[in-house]
Amino acid sequence: MKLKLAIALALAAMSAQAAEPWMDKSLSADQRAELALKAMTQQEKLRYVLGHFGSDFGNKTKKHPAALPSSAGYIEGVPRLGLPALFETDAGLGVATQATKTPRERTSLPSGLATAATWNRELAYQGGAMIGAEARASGFNVMLAGGVNLLREPRNGRNFEYAGEDPLLAGTMVAQQVKGIQSNHIIATTKHYAVNDQETGRFVLDSRIDDASNRMSDLLAFQFVMEQSDPGSVMCSYNRLNGVYACESDYLLNQVLKKDLGYKGYVMTDWGATHSTVESANAGLDQQSGWEFDKSQYFGGALEEAVANGHVSQARLDNMVFRVLRAMFDKGVADNPVAEGGAIDFNAHKLVSRADAEESMVLLKNAGKVLPLKSNAKKIVIIGAHADVGVLAGGGSSLVYPVGGNAVPGIEPTVWPGPVVYHPSSPMKAIQARAPGAQVVYNDGKDPAAAAQAAAGAEVVLVFGQQWVGESLDAVSLALPDNQDALIASVAKANPNTVVVLETSGPVLMPWVDQAAAIVQAWYPGTAGGEAIARVLFGEVNPSGHLPATFPAAESQLPRPKLDGDPKNEAVRFTVNYHEGAAVGYKWFDLKGLKPLFPFGHGLSYTQFTYSGLVASQKDGKLSVSFKITNTGAVKGKDVPQLYVAPLNAKWEAPKRLAGWDKVELAPGESKEVSVTVDPRLLGVYDSRSKTWRIAKGGYKVLLAQDASDVKAASITIQLPQRTLNVAGK
Ligand code: BGC
Repeated sequence: MKLKLAIALALAAMSAQAAEPWMDKSLSADQRAELALKAMTQQEKLRYVLGHFGSDFGNKTKKHPAALPSSAGYIEGVPRLGLPALFETDAGLGVATQATKTPRERTSLPSGLATAATWNRELAYQGGAMIGAEARASGFNVMLAGGVNLLREPRNGRNFEYAGEDPLLAGTMVAQQVKGIQSNHIIATTKHYAVNDQETGRFVLDSRIDDASNRMSDLLAFQFVMEQSDPGSVMCSYNRLNGVYACESDYLLNQVLKKDLGYKGYVMTDWGATHSTVESANAGLDQQSGWEFDKSQYFGGALEEAVANGHVSQARLDNMVFRVLRAMFDKGVADNPVAEGGAIDFNAHKLVSRADAEESMVLLKNAGKVLPLKSNAKKIVIIGAHADVGVLAGGGSSLVYPVGGNAVPGIEPTVWPGPVVYHPSSPMKAIQARAPGAQVVYNDGKDPAAAAQAAAGAEVVLVFGQQWVGESLDAVSLALPDNQDALIASVAKANPNTVVVLETSGPVLMPWVDQAAAIVQAWYPGTAGGEAIARVLFGEVNPSGHLPATFPAAESQLPRPKLDGDPKNEAVRFTVNYHEGAAVGYKWFDLKGLKPLFPFGHGLSYTQFTYSGLVASQKDGKLSVSFKITNTGAVKGKDVPQLYVAPLNAKWEAPKRLAGWDKVELAPGESKEVSVTVDPRLLGVYDSRSKTWRIAKGGYKVLLAQDASDVKAASITIQLPQRTLNVAGK
């Protein structure tokens, strides 16, 4: 009887819902949001601007009863009107779980920086589509993914969640991921807006950078994401920008994001980044997230009161709710309800992750062609980084717990931002499978002398180097931790055929670079990382990753040789002066004439490519470039021809900028024509006063290069007329 009644009620609710005018799909998202908003009471409106944490908050509060267990967040819906609740999950590598003994086990992509290293837009999209599908199948309709903070600080503990140092590369790749995620009719959240470029002191630090430099660097990366993928929401960050908290910055939220970029979605805070009611609401903040992390429920009763007494207008509250509703209609959340327990094809998803990982691996060095390995090898010695059982993951809210459990449990820190997790994809097993006749030996690398002894006499030695970092922690230095430099040096001394495989968040120093025969940058390679590494080592996959960040030769080369702030005293407010402005990464190195260890864009292959026939033309100031690329080697491979533009007279932040690229697959002997059109903003300089991009009349050198330091790059010079463009580059 009870069941019958429940069914009857559900059917009635459904038909009421279908009949509601805002459920009419022929209307625009704006119209539907407007109609729904009109039907809501003040109390119902207030629900959509207050986020609850999806887990217990220590002993302080219990998780909201309707939130999915151990999830990032929950926002109540309005069932009376058929308007769904929002179920939020982290993050950019897959469906994460907040600390618990019974995590969701899901597929993990390789790190965001790894995906950027593929320079392959299609793979970024596929990865996004895959993790978005897992989010939907897990009952989530908001995915807190789309991290695009620029890699200004190679020690930043969250670089692995982002997409590198160049605004064009980072913005383009993250936009593709966001598109993929949202193809599942869920909302993606690009983050952390803005200039949240280090973890040390993230709650208190004040990032200092002028408007024009910001618009040409960090903000430009966000702008590309907005323009190319229109994420349903944006997460404002913990830090202050030029003295004001990002989540109550009228400049960031109202002026840049909503007015200049014309953003129509909603702004949510990071968890614990709300500091006020009136200032925040009036500055353009739309939703307080995980209020339990804040000092107060700023967007609860306090906001209701602020509206009642006129400190925040009713129109502002309505607009906050309108933006949330609009995103729900626009992205398909309202029309496609989510439910927990959907089927996930883990085998298929593992292959998506593997394809991404394989293309992300960067062959940094291959002296004497020690790679690819031969399947008839007799003895292979594998050393370090638990390469016998798994591959490393980064820590913090983005951690995706592996299907099958942590391959190496118990490593400190076991709690936030831990646990330290290894995905159970064993490089050693995958290597053994490809060299069935070989004796494959593992040494844990703890004792450099013993490791060297094990290495001596082997045909080839694979030393795995690793660097674990995570959210809230920066790397204390760019050196590999735990005496690994000594380990690698002593192994390389004992055996000239030493191949180093690196599982790191981002750039590291390599004092042993001249001793290693080959070096493969494997990043945090995700669910199928061990397989992907083995496939690249054996040449089943020809490496085609290229660095999305400069690898410095020393920390003294960085704009901030020493990291600002004190990790032991996170409460003291301090400033980080981004004096390099828009000259981030390779631009800084160019400007200062510094020689990096490995330049931005670098990556070798088992074949070779040549470029010819570079031509550039401009019509009404729009620059198009084309050229021919040929595979002159003996095996199939993929290349990333890169275009840089350098002004002859105009003054830019640095000598040149990346202006475009393509990723091209070629059979041996095959050639292809490639054309690239350049976003005109990349040819201009942002003027803060007029809010325009200005291209100076004159000559510009167009370089076709294999990396940012390529001395053999082909080049031609083109004359551009003077042009003034609006913020959108029109
Ligand atoms: C992180 C965000 C994350 C949020 C929810 C914060 O600590 O900075 O990136 O989305 O937590 O877990």
